[in-house]
Order: sequence, then C-alpha cells, then structure tokens
Amino acid sequence: MKGIVLAGGSGTRLQPLTWGTSKQLLPVYDKPLVYYPISVLMLAGIRDILVISTPTSLPALRNLLGDGSRLGLDFSYRVQPEPRGIADAFLVGADFIDDEPTALILGDNVFHGAGFPRLLRESIAALDGCTLFGYPVSDPERYGIGETDEQGNLVSIEEKPLRPRGNNAITGLYFYDSDVVEIARTLTPSERGELEITDVNKVYLKQGRAHLTRLGRGYTWIDAGTHDSLLAASQYVQVIEQRQGVRVACLEEIAVRMGYISRDSCAELGERMQGSGYGRYLLEIAQSL
Ligand code: G1P
Repeated sequence: MKGIVLAGGSGTRLQPLTWGTSKQLLPVYDKPLVYYPISVLMLAGIRDILVISTPTSLPALRNLLGDGSRLGLDFSYRVQPEPRGIADAFLVGADFIDDEPTALILGDNVFHGAGFPRLLRESIAALDGCTLFGYPVSDPERYGIGETDEQGNLVSIEEKPLRPRGNNAITGLYFYDSDVVEIARTLTPSERGELEITDVNKVYLKQGRAHLTRLGRGYTWIDAGTHDSLLAASQYVQVIEQRQGVRVACLEEIAVRMGYISRDSCAELGERMQGSGYGRYLLEIAQSL
C-alpha cells in the first residue's frame, strides 16, 4: 500500500503563524506537526510516501524530510498548485499511486492510542473499497460526519452538516482500494470550490464498500488546524512524553523498531541531534535494543 500526506492549504485559521512558514512545519511540542501523520503511515507498515504541498511550502518540507532514506523510507514530492480540495490529492498523485491501494492522511492530523498500529494493519488486511476512521466530537458541524445503523454500518456521510446526524467525525485518515483515482476523476467542485473527500467516500458508500472503524475511548485525535487545537496537541504530547518517558511520533524510533533502519543508524541520528532531549532519546533507544 502507498501513502500520501496532504500538507497543502494556506493555513488561514492559523494566521499570523502561517505567514512565514507552512502549517505542517509548526511545532507540536518537540517535533514538527507533519511528523505525526508520517508516523501513522509508518506504523501501518507503509514506506512509499508522497508528500503533496503548495509551491511555497514544498521546498521547506523537502528540506526537512529529504528522500526518506535515513528512515528507511521513500519520500516523493508533488506540488498542488491551487488549493483544490483533499480529493485533488488523487489527481495530483495519480502516477505515484499507479493503481495500488492508498492511504491518505491529512498533514495536520494527530492520532495516538494504544493498539493503533495493530488496528491499522488489520484495517489494511481487510480493505474492501474504503475504510474510514470515526471519532466522537463535541463540534460535529466542523467535520465530515458519518451516520451508522445499529450494527455500526455506515448509512450516510455528510460534510460539515448544519444539523449533524450524530457526533461521529470522519477523521483525516482514509484507506482506499485502487479505484480511488478513477472515482476522484468523476468529481465536480463543491460550493466551497473544492473536490471533497466526502464525495469520494459517498461513491464508495453507494457501492456498499465504505467501512467505518471507530476510534473510541483510549484514542486521541486532534485536527491541529487552529490555535487552540495546535496548543492542545502540544500539551497532550508533553504530558504523555514527560509522564511516561517515551516519545510520541518519533520517526527514527519507529524506523528502528520496525526494522527499517539499523540500531547503528538510529544511534548516528541521535548523535547528530544530541544537543536536544530528542537526540539523546534516540541514543537511549539505540542502546536499549
Ligand atoms: C476535512 C474533511 C472533513 C474531515 C476533516 C478532518 O475538513 O473535509 O470531512 O472531517 O478534514 O480533519 P477541512 O479540514 O477541509 O475543513
């Protein structure tokens, strides 16, 4: 399965923070925001990853992430010239996808929870059409909302409904089979002028091939696109990391634990950053393995 991180958008809700840099490079406690969605793809076992961003932000993202080899990954990059919506990622990334199943994750979404890697792998193994991930929220009018029947099957999906049918938000992580590019090609822009991911999901729903995995209690999902949610994400990560002495979304740690890089490579990466607690953590990880 291939992975796409959509790191586009102009970050208007985060101005003036985003006047000088892109949203996905802003810090969430000890690392850039974009590390978090990348960690999700890595934990799902995905190593071939396309990063899509705006013409101004893409060079900085490339500078941060490189070709991925230091993490045992393969990063490619494509520009999205205009903010044409989430589903446009499948048009921009069509040649990268190359008829394979694809995981799409939004560059400002932070996920965390015990058992998440297993859940991701099981969802990929069972993929039939598309798999969406639902999360209960208190402000459902801000999201795509999935309504389910008593058996937990999806019956409707609505983008930012004025009168939401429930509070089950569709998060910014989506698994699709290889039909997704063809489906994206049939879409027309919504009222806000975007190719909506919800419209892609509705096509799968119509075919009876849209499935919902609920992330309930014990999971954290933060769409870090506002001042408050960005701070909340930092505070959340700080609490976990300080209390437990572990690091959330530490890409080098994930790479070494998944066997993508050697213990020595992990130690080398740690040495390069040993001026920071993050770098010293990598050295500790390498020594402990
Ligand atoms: C987008 C999607 C929405 C989804 C949300 C998750 O909203 O359109 O369905 O629930 O991401 O972060 P947007 O960020 O475009 O407002």
